[in-house]
Amino acid sequence: MQARPLAIAHRGASGIMPENTRLAFVKALDLGADALEFDVQLTRDEVPVVIHDETLDRTTSGTGAVADHDLADIVGLDAGSWFTASYSNVTVPTLEEVLSTFAPKITCNIELKPDKRVSQLVRHALTVVARFDAFANVIFSSFSADAIREIHKHSPDARIGMLTERGGLARSFKLAAETGAETLNPPVGMVDRSLVTECHERGLGVLAWTANEKGEIALLSALGVDGIFSDHPDRVRKQGTAV
Ligand code: G3P
Ligand code: MG
Repeated sequence: MQARPLAIAHRGASGIMPENTRLAFVKALDLGADALEFDVQLTRDEVPVVIHDETLDRTTSGTGAVADHDLADIVGLDAGSWFTASYSNVTVPTLEEVLSTFAPKITCNIELKPDKRVSQLVRHALTVVARFDAFANVIFSSFSADAIREIHKHSPDARIGMLTERGGLARSFKLAAETGAETLNPPVGMVDRSLVTECHERGLGVLAWTANEKGEIALLSALGVDGIFSDHPDRVRKQGTAV
């Protein structure tokens, strides 16, 4: 029997805490997650911050593009009460804050979400990871092929998790080979037994995003994936035993 898939907390334990916040990451650790996934963008003044959407509107009290605001504005926003009213003191964390607390404790999957400033985002993210000497515990991902290439160029030993999407498999396999990626990260709907077999033959693990329902988690597990991104990482731990 194979080991259960890794439980990767998607934006932290975002099913029960406001996503991409310290609270969500602490909860993910409490729930026994094997890794954290979070999204990183640059503020106007080029500080990497942890937030998913291009705009502030859905998950904070602010409005407009993240890229149009300086860090000083963004850290003053309420990033919790959209989720639960009593979390109004929860803030958008910087990459530095997240890595300083969590990289020593758990694997961190940094998903870079660049605007036009790809090189700047890569440079600042690498600088922060280097500052905490966290390369062993950090895996970089991005839907931006340019960002992945730049990470690999500047830091050839950086760990890469290759995000892919339907229609992009051949490109992703090529870039994975170029950059020495350790996993292919497909959306759940792309995963079948032949994809898992092909990845394993190529020496790539398979990390599927994003599954929250117990049946889906059990199915992915039976297909032999190596990890599952979930807003409920405890469900992967409990339900994900391979059959
Ligand atoms: O890395 C997996 C997943 O996070 C990619 O999609 O939109 O949730 O960042 P998204
Ligand atoms: Mg993400």
